[in-house]
Formats: sequence, C-alpha cells, structure tokens
Amino acid sequence: MRVLEIDHPLVAHKLSVLRNRATHSSVFRQLADELVTLLAYEATRNVAVAPVQIETPVTTMTGTRLTNPKPMVVPILRAGLGMLDGLTRLLPTAEVGFLGMVRNDETLEVTTYANRLPDDLSGRQCFVLDPMLATGHTLIASCEYLHERGAKDITCVTLLCAPEGLKALEEQLDPAIDLTVVTAAIDEKLDEKGYIVPGLGDAGDRLFG
Ligand code: PRP
Repeated sequence: MRVLEIDHPLVAHKLSVLRNRATHSSVFRQLADELVTLLAYEATRNVAVAPVQIETPVTTMTGTRLTNPKPMVVPILRAGLGMLDGLTRLLPTAEVGFLGMVRNDETLEVTTYANRLPDDLSGRQCFVLDPMLATGHTLIASCEYLHERGAKDITCVTLLCAPEGLKALEEQLDPAIDLTVVTAAIDEKLDEKGYIVPGLGDAGDRLFG
C-alpha cells in the first residue's frame, strides 16, 4: 500500500479553513471541491495512457491519450459526493458508480445501503472518494467490494486520515490489491468516539447539514 500525504501550501491552507469550526457549509463545499482537484492531480499520476498520433497546426507528433476501459470513480455516499466534481473535473470521461455506506455511531461498524456499480470491474482503475479515513471500516468494505468484482488497482482519495485507519487498511486488505491512498493530511489519532483528532468534525454534516 502506498500512502501519499500531499505537501503543498494551497492544500495546507484550504485544509486549515475546512478544519475551522466557523467555516460555513457553502464555503466548506467550495473548498473541499478545490482541495480534491489538487489531490486529484497526484491521485491520477498513474492513470493508464497510451500513445496517439496527432496533428498539430504545424506537424504530426505522438501524443498521449487515456486508454479504455475508462477509469471508475466511486464516491462513498454521503460525504464522498462532495468530492465527485473535484475529481471528475480532471477525469471528465470517467464512469461514475456509487456506494452508500454508513457508520454506526455506537459500534463504528459499517452498513452498505446502496450500490450502483458494474458487476465486472476487471481491468478498471478505480478511484474511491471519501473525505475521512477514521477506523478504516468504510474504506476496507468499499475496497473489498470493488476487489470482489475484479478491481485490482484502487486509489482512495481522502481529505484526512487517522493513523489507526491506515494501519487497518494495510493489515486487513488483500495484498493483491494495488492500493494507493492520497490524502491532504494524516492526523494525530482517533478519539473514543471514532472521530479524527484534530480533524474537521463530521464531513457529511459539514457538507450537507
Ligand atoms: C463518515 C465518513 C466516512 C466514514 C469514516 O461517514 O464520511 O465515510 O464515516 O469512518 P470509518 O473510517 O471509521 O469507517 P458516515 O458514516 O458518517 O456517513 P455520511 O457520509 O453519510 O455522513
């Protein structure tokens, strides 16, 4: 598993505004969107491409094109929906599938309540969007789901990660998955309620009320 914590002043600035409890949800949504586009630049670094012959106004040359099958972008409802535009802005031809998952506040276990994905994801590069990796239960379940359908190359894009969640991902996911986690920051720890500390609160509530 590769973990990329993006070190960039704009990422740090926008994340600091997101963390601030006084930031209103309209600003939060806008900044989350901008932040994801910055993260998407790194998250798509290994997107599959092939050479293509093109004609410029001056000459012909070998350029680069995205290959088929198209990448699959999977926002985890609800909060991951706030990251979708930020990523598809850079990958407008990607296909979008949805997984709805919710964490029980008491047990921190995860239930899947919605699934709109192709049955066969063999050979597809998958980009999973979820702002928070806390215990890791949600992303572990999501990646297992995609892997069962044949996906082997999975990149998770998050705004914040807890070290506990990263460890769980590393220990519990099948090592056959080529897994990358791209994040704006790895925070200090989880608290007893499963919140990331210092964190930014409940991303779903802050995005969607
Ligand atoms: C939050 C967050 C992640 C998950 C992270 O979602 O958006 O999906 O918890 O926690 P974990 O790593 O411990 O599983 P939540 O269940 O609150 O649902 P929501 O997106 O609908 O707000």
